[in-house]
Amino acid sequence: MKIKDYFKFLSIILTSIFYINVGIKHFTDPQWFLQIMPPYLPFHLELVYISGLFEILLGILLLFNFTRYHACMGLILLLVLVFPANIYLAQTNGKAMDISPIIAWGRLPFQLVFIGIAYLQRDFVFIFNKKYDIGLSSFWNDKYIDEKTKWDIGGPTPILTNYMKNKKTNIGKVCVLGCGNGHDVIELSRYNNEVYAVDFSKQAIQNLENKISDSNLKIKLIIEDIFNLDQNYLNSFDMVYEYTCYCAIHPNQRKRYFDLVHKILKKDGILYGIFIPFDKKTNNGPPFKVNLNEIKNYAIGKFDIIENYVSDLSIPQRRNRERVIILKKIA
Ligand SMILES: C[S@@+](CC[C@H](N)C(=O)[O-])C[C@H]1O[C@@H](n2cnc3c(N)ncnc32)[C@H](O)[C@@H]1O
Repeated sequence: MKIKDYFKFLSIILTSIFYINVGIKHFTDPQWFLQIMPPYLPFHLELVYISGLFEILLGILLLFNFTRYHACMGLILLLVLVFPANIYLAQTNGKAMDISPIIAWGRLPFQLVFIGIAYLQRDFVFIFNKKYDIGLSSFWNDKYIDEKTKWDIGGPTPILTNYMKNKKTNIGKVCVLGCGNGHDVIELSRYNNEVYAVDFSKQAIQNLENKISDSNLKIKLIIEDIFNLDQNYLNSFDMVYEYTCYCAIHPNQRKRYFDLVHKILKKDGILYGIFIPFDKKTNNGPPFKVNLNEIKNYAIGKFDIIENYVSDLSIPQRRNRERVIILKKIA
């Protein structure tokens, strides 16, 4: 983990301790909270207990990668719901708690700060065990060795098959990033393109090699981290093909991904991307969620978006979860 991630982790621990602590206080000292219950609300004690329970629960859920997004959203909602108590305290100029008006009014903006913190923390993901580090080739290689490749759809995506069938001219030099078992690599090369299949999993490339050994397809197999490609392949490709590699790398590597694609494409080269999953809410992965604005932002100044649509040729399990986005290198 980088230093920045340690700070993020520390912020999660402190925030979690804070909410659990305050939540427990709702039960050990309800009187403290009862003082600021707005008179127009019913069931004061019950509301104090319920809000305390949620503070404890959400504080605990904040600690785990796979529950953090929902915990943060829950905390934002909770902070909005308890805001009337803070307003009431301010309206009494602090008398409800026997504190000064400055403190009573001064507390209000802090509620927004807490909301902002929860919003920022929603996407934090921490990986402590190297075995689960998706940035390492061993993580992926083990999946191919154990044949735990749920993402593999067993053949080329019909979206690509259709695109290639309708394409009148050949593309030229194509690079497939994170090609895995390479079904799409084979499809692209069937049309006389020179395809560079890149993956840092030895086993994935080996599987692809076994499949093409008897063919005369123009496929170059490259066992390499995609982020090293700019060392040997600057301005080299007419097209970069993306399918389920972007969602497999850590989201904090995505800007780097777009920079890389820009560097290895020739002038006017095309990034043909089928991006997925658009439907995912939490940011635990892989696959990590994708969203259109993020992709558009990374494209600014580097690519024009030529096409951007939901295809009706997606396989049933991926229908309405993926988008075809075709970008052209502009600078
Ligand atoms: C979810 S799989 C998708 C494989 C293939 N595109 C498919 O659709 O079946 C992601 C692939 O990206 C590869 N990968 C992830 N990060 C990579 C990196 N930094 N460099 C090279 N390959 C990477 C993994 O080894 C894995 O084969």
